[in-house]
Parts: sequence; structure tokens; C-alpha cells
Amino acid sequence: MTEQEQLVEDLKKVVCSAAAAAKEFVGTGEKEAGDQAAVDAMRSAFEQAHMDAVVRVGEGEKDEAPMLYVGEKLGNGEGPKLDIAVDPVEGTALMAEGKPNAIAVVAATDQGAFWDAGSAYYMNKIVVGETAKGAIDITKSVSENLKSIAEASGKKVEELVVYVLDKPRHIELRKQIEDCGATVDLHAEGDVIGSVLALLPDSDVDALMGIGGAPEAVITAAAVLALGGDMQGQLAPQQEEERTGLLAEGANIDRVLMLKDLVKSDWAVFAAAGVTSGELLEGPMESTGDETLVEYLTIGPESGQVENDFYPLLTD
Ligand code: FBP
Repeated sequence: MTEQEQLVEDLKKVVCSAAAAAKEFVGTGEKEAGDQAAVDAMRSAFEQAHMDAVVRVGEGEKDEAPMLYVGEKLGNGEGPKLDIAVDPVEGTALMAEGKPNAIAVVAATDQGAFWDAGSAYYMNKIVVGETAKGAIDITKSVSENLKSIAEASGKKVEELVVYVLDKPRHIELRKQIEDCGATVDLHAEGDVIGSVLALLPDSDVDALMGIGGAPEAVITAAAVLALGGDMQGQLAPQQEEERTGLLAEGANIDRVLMLKDLVKSDWAVFAAAGVTSGELLEGPMESTGDETLVEYLTIGPESGQVENDFYPLLTD
């Protein structure tokens, strides 16, 4: 097995372990406990992974998050030096409420290559697939972007479907998309899954637009790079405290972050596993005996390399 194949195998096991652990909490209302179970499972799977890695996007600062904190070392200390970005449960509310589209996700690239989110919580994003690469400009209007995406994709603007998080901050964005004649695909949570849907050529989604998590943007960028799509982001602090923190760090809030700023490498791997069944992945299923089948999707490290299958995970 090559080092690249080993990396994909290891990340597959990491996300599937997290998804299987989180499954126990689906529909229980226990957001934090489900997230913690996924964190524990993910971290324990990382212990055997062949890598000398560091968490670049994690569950927060060391003092507040005992595991998978930013700066934590992961892996067996051998093999490639990597940056890791994790979200053990992306869509914790979806998991807790038993709603579709909760996933476990992880991304990897060269050490030092992932953008450091610092104290940024929110980012405005546009994500598109390969056909619309080069057609987006986050500094331009929604209407200009949709026209340009439609042209690049060989579609009418009216045929475009845009994934948007159902948040009060997006009322104006939704209106602008609808005024252009495009369709808004509204989801309560989950802009990583929305981005992946925008990237996959056989999904109905053409683009993701709007403000979501800044750490999620780094994980998303790995998938965008590995699938040859395009992405731009701009910090979008939602509260004065976030803005003040960013300014204190010397962040340029107006800067447009291009894909190459979010991942400063020519390769990345993205892996996701289903926690609840949704548009991208099924939730874990009990198989015969002591085995759980977990559906996963890996993208990269070779450009356009996609694998989607079920991982047989042995349970105690
Ligand atoms: P969590 O799983 O961390 O709760 O994230 C879910 C999510 O919907 C992300 O996909 C998105 O980037 C972010 O929350 C948006 O944050 P908010 O719900 O605060 O608007």
C-alpha cells in the first residue's frame, strides 16, 4: 500500500469510527454527549494512523477542549507530516434531533498548509464545482455571480440550485437568489455537506452561498481542491466580540480568501461518513454479528479521486 493509499484508509477509519459512535446519540437530544463520543472515537482511531500530524482545525483551544484541540499531535509519529482539520459531528443539532445530513468529517494536507482560522467563527463563502471554476467573485453581487456560474455551466440562471443555510442572516441573500430566478435549497444546518453537493457533478446543487463556520471553510476547501472546484471566502464576524478578536489578531476582515489561501498545497484528502441518513450518505447500519456498516465518501489525494462505499466497522 502506498503512503497515499494508507492515508485514505486511515482517514476512512477515523470518520467511520466517529460516525458509529455518534449514531448512539441520534435523536436523543444530547448534542454535547454525541459530539464527545465522536471526538473520543475519532481520536482513538487517529492513534493508530500512520502519520506525524497536527490538528489545525479542531474542537477549540486546549484548555477548553481536552481532545482534538488545535495544536494537538495526532498519529503514530511516523509517515507523512500533515495538517488535520476535523469536525467529529458536522451538524450536531441534526444528530441530536435525528434529522438528515449529520456527518463526521476530516481533512488532511501538508503540514502548515491549512489556513489558520484563529478566532474566526464565521465566513461568507461561495463554493462551486469544476465547471464553474474561475467564474466566482465574492466581491461581486449575487446576481453577477449567478450569471457567471450559469454561463460557465451551460445553464440558464433559472436552472441553478443554490444551497443556503436557513438562518435569519440569509433573508436578503435568499431574496437576491430568488429575484434572479434561481432556486434556493434551504437547510437548517450543514454547509460542508452543501459544499460537497455543489462540487459533485451528479448532484442537483450548483453552488453554496452564504455565511457559515470559518473552521468548516477549511474542511470544505480540502474537498474543493481535491475535486477541482472553486471557492472564495471572506470573514464575516456576526458579533462585536468576534470582530474585536479578529482585529486584535491583526486579521484583515475584508480580505478575499481564495482556495489557495485556505489550502496552501496542491493536494488534500477529504473524508466524510454518515451519522444520519441524508442527501450524501446513509447513517450507520447494524450488520450481522458485531459489525456496523458505515457509509463513507473520500475525495483525493489525486485530483478527482472519489470513493464511496460502506466500511465494516467491528464493534465491541
Ligand atoms: P455544528 O455541527 O458545529 O453545530 O455546525 C453546523 C453548522 O450548520 C455548520 O455547517 C455551519 O458552518 C455552522 O453550523 C453555522 O453556524 P450557525 O449555526 O451558528 O449559524
